[in-house]
Amino acid sequence: MQSSKTKFNLISGLAMTKGVESLKRHAHNLKGIFAEAQMLDAIIKKNDPLIYEFYDLGVEEKPGNLAYGTSIVYPGVVGKEFYMTKGHFHTVLDTAEVYFCLSGHGLMLMENPEGETEIQELTAGEAVLVPGRYAHRSINISDSEPLVTFFTFAADAGHDYGTIEQKGFRKLVLRTGKETYEVVDNPHWKSL
Ligand code: NI
Repeated sequence: MQSSKTKFNLISGLAMTKGVESLKRHAHNLKGIFAEAQMLDAIIKKNDPLIYEFYDLGVEEKPGNLAYGTSIVYPGVVGKEFYMTKGHFHTVLDTAEVYFCLSGHGLMLMENPEGETEIQELTAGEAVLVPGRYAHRSINISDSEPLVTFFTFAADAGHDYGTIEQKGFRKLVLRTGKETYEVVDNPHWKSL
């Protein structure tokens, strides 16, 4: 029987189990993701900060298994955009996912291939169901606190990052003030 057990710190989101390492995404890993490319380049030159990290615990990708882990998006902005994850569709498109917010204040930005967009706010103790067919991206809207979420999804779902890397999301979330934002059309969105 394959089994695994991982302990997480519920505030930082970091794994406390020996040998379990996160995958880290620094500014230089996110070229093409933020709308203001020159701002991102300046940030990379300055100190190339860690934007987010998450865990892939290596649960075998077979039907019936659940992949799970935490995601931590740090506070900050690139131009007017908050720090956020790349976002992805699942390769098996019709695969849902649950995110439970452990700490912080953020948004789950979701869109399906038909162009419907859905945005859910996340604060500690709140869960969001990302329905099947929806790409999803976590966005930290706090100026000071990391956004920490726990996620789980069918382990055989796979990840399609390429579609978002090429097309982007249809909507951008822009900072307008302390923990406030507006949602605008993405001028760089490509219909392909
Ligand atoms: Ni996912």
